[in-house]
Amino acid sequence: MKDESSSRLTVVHPVGQYNVIVGADVLPRLRELAGIVGPVAVVTDSHVGPLYAERLGETVCLVTIPAGERHKTLTTVQSIYDDLLTVGLDRSGTIVALGGGVVGDVAGFVAATYMRGVRFVQCPTSLLAMVDASVGGKTGVDLPQGKNLVGAFKQPTAVLADMATLTTLPPEEFAAGMAEVVKHGLIANPDLLDRLMIEDLRLD
Ligand SMILES: NC(=O)c1ccc[n+]([C@@H]2O[C@H](COP(=O)([O-])OP(=O)(O)OC[C@H]3O[C@@H](n4cnc5c(N)ncnc54)[C@H](O)[C@@H]3O)[C@@H](O)[C@H]2O)c1
Repeated sequence: MKDESSSRLTVVHPVGQYNVIVGADVLPRLRELAGIVGPVAVVTDSHVGPLYAERLGETVCLVTIPAGERHKTLTTVQSIYDDLLTVGLDRSGTIVALGGGVVGDVAGFVAATYMRGVRFVQCPTSLLAMVDASVGGKTGVDLPQGKNLVGAFKQPTAVLADMATLTTLPPEEFAAGMAEVVKHGLIANPDLLDRLMIEDLRLD
């Protein structure tokens, strides 16, 4: 489906489906586009939160974790549980991840486990999170022994990718996401690869 400001894909998974909505200014339409009725708790990081959290509108709780992979830990998960309990978020609530893949993985794991599971919406802000990490339902954290060693499958109820957020993404992070896009093109989508090469020629 397409409206004037966004496009929408439907992802079907074993127990349901959800929409991935891509647009230029979709964050302010979070409740409407993700079909949220109850309280919203936003999990974000220290880079993304100050830039974009306000755009999501009213929330019962804004949890800001330190940015970076080294904070993708059970200690961070515990601190988020503490904040959610402090504001009394119950099973009517929705956890919204606003950030890159680290925020999405941590917040998704919290959503899978807090009160045995609450609704979860992904608002990816890095290109890697938009094209990969926010879709598919894999969530989790790292242990000292290795990456992603603890986790859960938690499908989001919606994914909102706001392209406006990419304007502040550091170039090296954009390149990391673009590498994933090229990989998809090489493995499975020659049309995508052709389009990327045309874009590249235009830049020259
Ligand atoms: N669940 C999955 O299926 C899946 C798939 C791929 C990767 N991952 C995970 O994703 C993580 C990597 O994700 P990532 O590359 O997004 O890293 P990240 O979340 O650490 O983000 C990279 C950096 O960019 C910053 N940032 C993000 N969006 C920004 C914006 N719009 N403006 C300014 N700064 C911004 C972040 O604060 C961070 O400093 C890894 O932990 C990886 O394991 C998960």
